[in-house]
Amino acid sequence: MIISGKELSARLKAEMAEQVAAFPEKYGRVPHLVVILVGDDPASVSYVTGKAKASEVVGIRNTTIRKPETITEEELLSLIGQLNGDDTVDGILVQLPLPRHISEAKVIETISKEKDVDGFHPLNVAALWQKQPCTVACTPKGIIKLLKAAGVTIQGKRAVVIGRSNIVGLPVSKLLLDENATVTVAHSRTVNLPELTRQADILVVAIGRPKFVTADMVSEGTVVIDVGVNRDPQTGKLCGDVDFAGVEPKAAVITPVPGGVGPMTICCLMENTIECFLRRMSDGLRQD
Ligand code: GUN
Repeated sequence: MIISGKELSARLKAEMAEQVAAFPEKYGRVPHLVVILVGDDPASVSYVTGKAKASEVVGIRNTTIRKPETITEEELLSLIGQLNGDDTVDGILVQLPLPRHISEAKVIETISKEKDVDGFHPLNVAALWQKQPCTVACTPKGIIKLLKAAGVTIQGKRAVVIGRSNIVGLPVSKLLLDENATVTVAHSRTVNLPELTRQADILVVAIGRPKFVTADMVSEGTVVIDVGVNRDPQTGKLCGDVDFAGVEPKAAVITPVPGGVGPMTICCLMENTIECFLRRMSDGLRQD
């Protein structure tokens, strides 16, 4: 079975649109997401455009601020500071990666925890690992939603995650653990990776190498989640970290690229923006 993140996200966005339509009457306005894009990397431009389009579908106000690659770290931090203090802004997202002269860690820390729709702020990450209420990073959150929508049982299963990034590998491992899977985090230095991946019931691949996972690495009946977004060096077309043509016949369930995890990430960004908005609205009401 091929799970379409595109279809699931369209359904979830339609539900969110209904929810958001009631906000002006209830709260006097709709949620407001500000996306900052530094430079003009084509992939980043395309992601930011996707976020603006999804915002429009859901009815979220989207402001995309584009800054040249020459912006200084100080200027960027000062912009974030302004947005933190702006009561009309509910969510702030700085598109990564950033130019080398800007510290991503500093940028992430500067975004207020309450407006951190990416769930990257150290306080949100700490809360996730302590099972406290928090904003959960969009891609990991979207992966769990996809698995559940496909009717995959996570509890008691052996999950292997390839990749240990702060954005995907580590948080998705924690979410799978919270769903009672037995989780192994593998990476580029793992010895005899195929032996390990063949034992997986659920295989999440976020290593960033085109068609890295081949048919010989996967057992019959495995659930395969492909987080990769790469260019196929042969065809120049978009492809995942999984050799889809080879692996699909063996997989019980598999996500395509494009149209799998990607749309779910954006969908969860919309959800996180709504959550931040609602939290701010209820905090505001408590203060009055
Ligand atoms: N670049 C690639 N993925 C992401 C993401 O989830 N959030 C941000 N801010 N930048 C990214």
